[in-house]
Amino acid sequence: MLALTDFSSRLIAWQRIHGRHELPWQNTRDAYRIWLSEIMLQQTQVSTVIPYYARFLERFPTVTALADAPIDDVMALWAGLGYYSRARNLHRCAQVVAHEHGGRFPQTVDELAMLPGIGRSTAAAIASFAFGARATILDGNVKRVLARVFGIEGFPGAKKVENAMWTLAESLLPDAANKDEVTAYTQGLMDLGATLCVRGKPDCARCPFASDCVAKVEGRQRELPAARPKKAVPTRKTWMLILKDGDSILLQKRPSIGIWGGLWSLPEAADEAALADVAQRLGADEHLQRLAPLSHAFTHFKLDIEPRLGEARNAPRDLMDTETVWASLAKIDAYGVPAPVRKLLDALTGSLI
Ligand code: ADE
Repeated sequence: MLALTDFSSRLIAWQRIHGRHELPWQNTRDAYRIWLSEIMLQQTQVSTVIPYYARFLERFPTVTALADAPIDDVMALWAGLGYYSRARNLHRCAQVVAHEHGGRFPQTVDELAMLPGIGRSTAAAIASFAFGARATILDGNVKRVLARVFGIEGFPGAKKVENAMWTLAESLLPDAANKDEVTAYTQGLMDLGATLCVRGKPDCARCPFASDCVAKVEGRQRELPAARPKKAVPTRKTWMLILKDGDSILLQKRPSIGIWGGLWSLPEAADEAALADVAQRLGADEHLQRLAPLSHAFTHFKLDIEPRLGEARNAPRDLMDTETVWASLAKIDAYGVPAPVRKLLDALTGSLI
């Protein structure tokens, strides 16, 4: 594994030659400008942010100018950047800095993180860029770099994995001797994640960590970082009645809203006893035959179907109800029948011939 002390020196050396140096919020230690850029960059790409950043600075050259502006002006200038709670927090934060901190941003991560709209990673970015503080960022890009270089398993959004990454990221920081080194290091983390160690096709050939990177060495760039675990989908269970009379079965039209809206399906009930009642009302023979259960996956839930087969002994043939039909199994194609119901009926047809 890569020696932890090698990480920062290699990253800084790489950043100085191959990193980004001319972004509009670089080459300044003005905390207001740096803060404004970091908030805009939270969920938005660099190329989108650049013109907004320029317009904001022109209209609000200082944190006090921003604090004194009507919120409507701020919202109007933010329009198009998205995630509008950022703009409201931006304005509130400017007011706190202007009125409670004398117009100067506090210098420590802990104080910065108490301001509206500033989380731990953004606080560290501001502290390291504006004040040369030895503080680590950990945004989505950095999580991807760390997961790959150090082979960190697990979904980085999970609390346990995230905590382990914060600890690792802290241990990787360079010595605080030189403020420019801290700045280059933080920028290097961002640049590596944004330009080489990208999500889709990382450019490992240019990466300073290629020879040690766990993901590269093991060919697991696609697996690291691990994807968000799929949510377990809820299961619903239903009992369905295949009521048979000769080669016909009884179909009912489903209500127009809800699953299978407007399709022709089988009579249903929520449990075995309720289905027996339904069967009796429809004139089925006492005995219902248990058929093989079937599962159907919808996007948001799984449907377990318990099919029961009944013979129509006393069932009325002349149905007055337009929502109910006797359909010939051979002509079932004429009806819009949901796929899993169709599957049940096909299995039945197969077993009957
Ligand atoms: N994303 C977040 N902060 C950034 C910065 N300072 N430069 C480039 N991209 C960023």
